[in-house]
Amino acid sequence: MISLKEIDKIYRSSRGDETVALKGISFDVEEGEFITIVGPSGCGKTTLLKIIGGLIPKTAGKIYLDGSEIAGPNPKIGLIFQSPVLLPWRTIYENIMLPVDVRKAPRKEHDRWARELLELVGLTGFENYYPSELSGGMQQRAALCRAMINNPSILLMDEPFGALDAMTRENMNVWLQRIWLESGKTVVFVTHSIPEAVFLADRVVVLSSRPGCIDEVISVDIPRPRSINVMTTEQFGAHVQTIRTKFGSEGALD
Ligand SMILES: Nc1ncnc2c1ncn2[C@@H]1O[C@H](COP(=O)(O)OP(=O)(O)O)[C@@H](O)[C@H]1O
Ligand SMILES: [Mg+2]
Repeated sequence: MISLKEIDKIYRSSRGDETVALKGISFDVEEGEFITIVGPSGCGKTTLLKIIGGLIPKTAGKIYLDGSEIAGPNPKIGLIFQSPVLLPWRTIYENIMLPVDVRKAPRKEHDRWARELLELVGLTGFENYYPSELSGGMQQRAALCRAMINNPSILLMDEPFGALDAMTRENMNVWLQRIWLESGKTVVFVTHSIPEAVFLADRVVVLSSRPGCIDEVISVDIPRPRSINVMTTEQFGAHVQTIRTKFGSEGALD
């Protein structure tokens, strides 16, 4: 569904300094697959996601979505960032409708889907609340609704649960897995947490430190739905250990 061929990204500052953020990134994402990308801080994870989302240009290489080159933002792709970036003066419902308003499409046609999404993420009854009245986890779930309102087939998620406490984060992971199983969407999920990467993934793409290159792609064959208890199994531990060993010489991820 998504195909990356030899992607390079070099940032050039106005002073002429160059930062090589990504080097020779190639991999394919199958339809309906859950891919996680893990790597140390600054290795180019956000850069890679922005390139796939068509938000910034690549320096070299090709990237295809369903066989056509990605040249800019695409309605088939929904993006979710680390902070939910909801507009404080809009209610939850109005925030979810933002992409509809931006397209100047009638809200009425999307009302039912918006309410189904709210139900799916457990926010029914909070439509008319303002973001500041919701917890961080609830705000992030509202951001997910907003990303899904135009019904994209691909979700790109950049450390969406990084700002949440450990327990909320575990709950969100179990919950995201359920949404993904029910919706059949394709997900590319960036994290610097190795257990999170293993828990969610069909395949984990492991990036080396800057410039980000693919170190290894690891298939996680743990059956679904996975409960948080799989984290205590030997199989899970072995996957985490394999990845951790790769970063051993570079120290912890963060
Ligand atoms: N807009 C930019 N201009 C210049 N350098 C950038 C820009 N964005 C990111 N970088 C650099 O590119 C590298 C990768 O950044 P990023 O993709 O944010 O990494 P990660 O998300 O893995 O932490 C870093 O060295 C960062 O400083
Ligand atoms: Mg980042």
